[in-house]
Amino acid sequence: MHTRAVAASTTALLGVAALLSPASPVGAVGYGARPSAIAHRGASAYAPENTLAAVDKAAELGIRWVENDVQRTRDGELVVLHDDSLRRTTNVEEVFPDRAPWKVKDFTAAEIARLDAGSWFGPAYAGARVPTLKQFVKRVERHHQKLLLEIKNPQLYPGIERQTLKLLSNEGWLDRRHLAGRLVVQSFSADCVRTVHELKPGVKTGFLGTPSVTDLPVYAAFADQINPSHGSLSPGYVSAVHAFTGPHGRALEVLTWTVDDAATAQRVAGYGVDGIISNKPDVVREAVRG
Ligand code: G3P
Ligand code: CA
Repeated sequence: MHTRAVAASTTALLGVAALLSPASPVGAVGYGARPSAIAHRGASAYAPENTLAAVDKAAELGIRWVENDVQRTRDGELVVLHDDSLRRTTNVEEVFPDRAPWKVKDFTAAEIARLDAGSWFGPAYAGARVPTLKQFVKRVERHHQKLLLEIKNPQLYPGIERQTLKLLSNEGWLDRRHLAGRLVVQSFSADCVRTVHELKPGVKTGFLGTPSVTDLPVYAAFADQINPSHGSLSPGYVSAVHAFTGPHGRALEVLTWTVDDAATAQRVAGYGVDGIISNKPDVVREAVRG
């Protein structure tokens, strides 16, 4: 049998085994030997990042995985935005000129809901809003997509791990079907990832960064994925990560970011990564196909 076919059948069997085993409900991100293309902040090369329009664009392109960034407002609402300030991706300076430095944590959800999060990207997106996490997961669900949720700047938002898990649970995202292959929670903070794992051990988790190989056993206790910047990757590092078993009894996975060109996508695919996070996920998907 062709190598890819063997890998695909093995993955399919492992997927079935994961669904059947109560101890290890999580499934793999990749499709056989081919890495998944993951829409970074939605399909953010084509629509304003972290908006519902960027989720829609990813769906339109047929992209199954969507990445986002979660933070918290002054009055405790979880919202989807990358920077800790609203300045770059909204018209906050215009609407609230005397509120510099325009930190997300200093604005209420109602104030943020007034902002235009689309015009900076292009006139076609004027009026797009900063979505709440609830709105975001509902949209991802509507498209039958999968969510790579990043908890951003957790040190600014005490308790954000428990709150995020509560929201996911309320929205039906912690049922067996979602845990088995539609949700990963990641962060640059190891403490945050460990907390998520301890609060809900069934949730698949990822650590953003490139820990040394000698430290990988520590991460493998609470993270299912090690997700490094593509510039820090080597074939040896990917193999080293894959050699460890994560908290759900499966080999650790590697998702790399942020790759927007075909040549780099093919290079990291050749290293054996499981997923490639991209602002142009359609370009990545084409590059790694075949
Ligand atoms: O998911 C990986 C990537 O999003 C991490 O970097 O800064 O874009 O959140 P950043
Ligand atoms: Ca992110």
